[in-house]
Amino acid sequence: MTIRAVIRGVGHYLPERVVSNADFEKMLDTSDEWIRARSGIERRHFAAADQTTSDLAVRAARAALDQAGMGPQDLDAIILATSTADLTFPSAATMVQAALGMRQGFAFDVQAVCAGFVYALANANALIVSGQARRVLVIGAETFSRLMDWTDRSTCVLFGDGAGALVLEATEGTGSPADRGILATDLHSDGRFRELLYVDGGVSTGQTGHLRMQGREVFRHAVEKLAETAEASLHKAGLTAADVDWIVPHQANIRIIEGTARKMGLSMDRVVVTVQDHGNTSAASIPLAMSVVVERGQIKPGDLIVAEAIGGGLAWGSVVLRW
Ligand code: UT7
Repeated sequence: MTIRAVIRGVGHYLPERVVSNADFEKMLDTSDEWIRARSGIERRHFAAADQTTSDLAVRAARAALDQAGMGPQDLDAIILATSTADLTFPSAATMVQAALGMRQGFAFDVQAVCAGFVYALANANALIVSGQARRVLVIGAETFSRLMDWTDRSTCVLFGDGAGALVLEATEGTGSPADRGILATDLHSDGRFRELLYVDGGVSTGQTGHLRMQGREVFRHAVEKLAETAEASLHKAGLTAADVDWIVPHQANIRIIEGTARKMGLSMDRVVVTVQDHGNTSAASIPLAMSVVVERGQIKPGDLIVAEAIGGGLAWGSVVLRW
């Protein structure tokens, strides 16, 4: 008997405030044209001053639980992917646990920056297939606006805030790639590349710090590593790119998304793109994109999906799942 982690519900939350590229033209030497051409981003959402990452996460979690027809009492675990937890500790996941009114089970954060949601899904899958949990709420939530240096035009126009969540449930499968649920995962990191993308603050400095990025270098690694990991996880699942219905990529840059699809030999009509509306929401971008396109009716039960992401670390990876 094969146990599969099957998706029962998906949901998202975006803060109300929308900031357009034109808004940045008023405060920086930049243009709507540059931001669109170089990144594909047109607008992004920013959290209100009193909204934290766990607030966003709770809204997305409730939406996913509603869709699954479940309540907090049905969950065994919460895994929250974030690099912008409300506090250094406790984890934002335990804050979400409390806010949902979940009294049993366990909750923890996963920190793998923009690859965080893929790492969280791989962890949830491991808990489910090993029998340690039956129902896991997996959330990606971020308030990257809090990490921006508003004088650095090369980074502050790229990021946004938001949250997305999936509910996974242990379900009996046949062991074949036709099963629904998570079919394969593939994770990597290489700490030698830490200077390419990092925050220059934290516990050791006494300040939160700001995001610093060598964009061109990250870009170079991204296309190559994302296509490689997507192909590796498809291979582990016994599938090929020809079997894929949708790629749900981390939404950092339209040119990275297009380059990865091209390397995999897939046309853009099989790629989910939301970067124009959300900007780069780090660990939230994949579940946000999934939720938005499920709402639109694009992703349907039985569709084969590859989710892939790369970010600070460098950390990267992919998950193959059947919706
Ligand atoms: O989520 C984690 C992973 N992160 C990523 O995947 C991000 C990866 N990198 C990227 O998305 C792209 O590298 C960027 C969008 C960050 C930049 O695009 P690029 O085509 O690599 O541009 P560039 O860094 O090579 O900069 C080109 C020019 C520079 O001017 P010079 O030196 O050629 O005169 C920049 O100063 O564009 C300038 N520039 C801007 N101009 C107007 C940088 N930012 C801006 C801006 N507005 N906001």
